[in-house]
Amino acid sequence: MSAQVTFASIMQNTQIAPDIYLMEIQSAETAEAARPGQFLHIRCTDSLSPLLRRPISIADADKKTGNIKIIYRVVGQGTQLLCRKRPGDSLDIIGPLGQGFPMPDEGQTPVIVGGGIGVAPLLFLAKSVVKETFCPMPKVFLGFETKQEAFGIEFFESLGIELEICTDDGSLGNKCFPTALLKEYLEQCQDKSKLVIYACGPRPMLAGLKDIASAEDITAYFSMEERMACGVGACLGCSVKSSQGAYKKVCKDGPVFEAGEIELT
Ligand SMILES: Cc1cc2nc3c(=O)[nH]c(=O)nc-3n(C[C@H](O)[C@H](O)[C@H](O)COP(=O)(O)OP(=O)(O)OC[C@H]3O[C@@H](n4cnc5c(N)ncnc54)[C@H](O)[C@@H]3O)c2cc1C
Ligand code: FES
Repeated sequence: MSAQVTFASIMQNTQIAPDIYLMEIQSAETAEAARPGQFLHIRCTDSLSPLLRRPISIADADKKTGNIKIIYRVVGQGTQLLCRKRPGDSLDIIGPLGQGFPMPDEGQTPVIVGGGIGVAPLLFLAKSVVKETFCPMPKVFLGFETKQEAFGIEFFESLGIELEICTDDGSLGNKCFPTALLKEYLEQCQDKSKLVIYACGPRPMLAGLKDIASAEDITAYFSMEERMACGVGACLGCSVKSSQGAYKKVCKDGPVFEAGEIELT
């Protein structure tokens, strides 16, 4: 689908954790085209400030109902304006944009690792893996700062997925980072050659995962976040350094990259 502006109808915009909101919008054609890992470029206001759209991942999309979910953390002007929108308002979106997560091959076991707000796109990924592939149930490892900030747990459980959770302060699950949960799992795993890792979260978490995946020779795909302007590959505003030294555009070449493709340090 080309980058065209759509006016979606807001169905719900609810706070689900401190500073974290779940918004449901209705747009049949966007939901039909959406793939896990893709994002919407959202105009947060009708006025000129902020001028630039804000990229937010698609956390779920239902082709049958045309319903799309996004989950966002309020961090600045754009997301502050977004959280004030009400059911019945319209939302100016471009998308779905970018390259999403490739689905696992038959027989591969997906290992999904999410940190904080980075869990959002992994919900859609997990649903698509469970409903659209013949792969074994994904293993899911999630990390949050505290119990209050945790979200998405019931969604994974409703898919029949057993997940392991950790928090920085130990208020929910183990007191560690998701990389430690993954390492523990890999120590017990009989056949690592069948694993494929999918992750989204803070950059230090992705850097740790990249080291683990490379040491164990496991393919890994990461969804990257970078500040964006145009969102469609025209301005170079979102470039990240690739392992080959050239630059890649997060909005067009990504946001999902194979771990070996990008520099994370
Ligand atoms: C492909 C993609 C998918 C994303 N998906 C989600 C999502 O599902 N949910 C969600 O909450 N956020 C997501 N983000 C991040 C989101 O785009 C930013 O938080 C948002 O643009 C901030 O806008 P703002 O106007 O509220 O804050 P601003 O006033 O623009 O910035 C506030 C603070 O956030 C930092 N910041 C802003 N944008 C980014 C960014 N892209 N990466 C890292 N730090 C940033 C700024 O440096 C500043 O410190 C995604 C980003 C990308 C690139
Ligand atoms: S935001 Fe303009 S090229 Fe990516």
